[in-house]
Amino acid sequence: MPTLKDAYADAFLMGVALNERQYTDQDDRARPIVAAQFNAISPENVMKWESLHPEPGVYDFEGADAYVEFGEANDMWILGHTLVWHSQTPRWVFQDENGDPLTREALLARMEDHISTVVGRYRGRVDGWDVVNEALNEDGTLRDSPWRRIIGDDYLEHAFRFAHAADPDAELYYNDYSLENKPKRDGAVRLVRSLQDAGVRVTGIGTQLHAHMDWPTVAQLDSTIRAFAEVGDVMVTELEIDVLPSRGSQSADVSRREEGAADLDPYTDGLPPEMQQALADRYAELFEVLLDHKDSISRVTFWGVTDGDSWKNGFPIPGRTNHPLLFDRDGAPKPAFGAVVRVAD
Ligand code: G3I
Repeated sequence: MPTLKDAYADAFLMGVALNERQYTDQDDRARPIVAAQFNAISPENVMKWESLHPEPGVYDFEGADAYVEFGEANDMWILGHTLVWHSQTPRWVFQDENGDPLTREALLARMEDHISTVVGRYRGRVDGWDVVNEALNEDGTLRDSPWRRIIGDDYLEHAFRFAHAADPDAELYYNDYSLENKPKRDGAVRLVRSLQDAGVRVTGIGTQLHAHMDWPTVAQLDSTIRAFAEVGDVMVTELEIDVLPSRGSQSADVSRREEGAADLDPYTDGLPPEMQQALADRYAELFEVLLDHKDSISRVTFWGVTDGDSWKNGFPIPGRTNHPLLFDRDGAPKPAFGAVVRVAD
């Protein structure tokens, strides 16, 4: 059977998010899969502010350097993720030495220092950056965050301008989740258009596509790609399909947890054949849409290599395992892997 990257060679890059163990030779199971199957990489955590810049004036590039070197050694397209986000950003970033909120000017200076230092270090080596991550509410308006509260709505414009100044050739993206829902999708298009109208370089939108068995619909995904193609490149940036009940029934799960049901994964010994098939069919229907839009989509990235690596283990239910990716916990390809390859065959 062809590899993922070969099957989709004429369509788009096939990417995967890596954790640190996978490019520092500590994970013998995932590394060969990464090298064989994928031609683009994303850093799951190592390039976030708290990892790169844990204290004022202190940068730690050890993990990020290893990530970029791994990508170069394997001839891969390399993403930087992420420069400006409300999460995984230390509290000190928004405070002065007395613990009081920074002024707009001081926070902009801190943002510029971070972006120019990080993007400048990897200039010409990291191909594209998720410049701003998850700035929108579900209704498409700008989300409340310390960035927005202190700087104002134009914090996004500054972030993109600083990134462009630090590496004029890098691709610069806006990245978010649940963009298949119309209000948020429309908000992303409005946001990116307004930045571009102001002369800011935004090269595309990444839709994370943390999917479920029943969300998004094929029609929702199709409309989202069409809408985003109007303003630039389209990427699927953090794909997996949660096979367990959560969307809609999520609150029911949480109340069961509160009642003491610690482990709500009925498939701890692996997915049974009917669920493997259902997951394979679901992956196939999403990839059929993606392939239809191969002229607009530049990259499709899975958020993890094997089921054991997924952030969905423990989210939204702490301690609950999950099975959302193409390779099982032993690194064996699941039926979903064959289904994805066959869509492009
Ligand atoms: O590094 C510490 C470690 O020192 C500590 O011992 C351990 C104890 O909990 O925590 C470790 O940090 C964890 C980190 O992942 C690295 O493993 C954090 O607790 C944990 O919260 C963090 O989760 C990451 C999450 O972003 C944080 O918001 C997930 O791995 C990562 O997959 C997830 O990725 C995000 C994307 O960046 C943006 N879109 C959504 C996506 C899923 O949440």
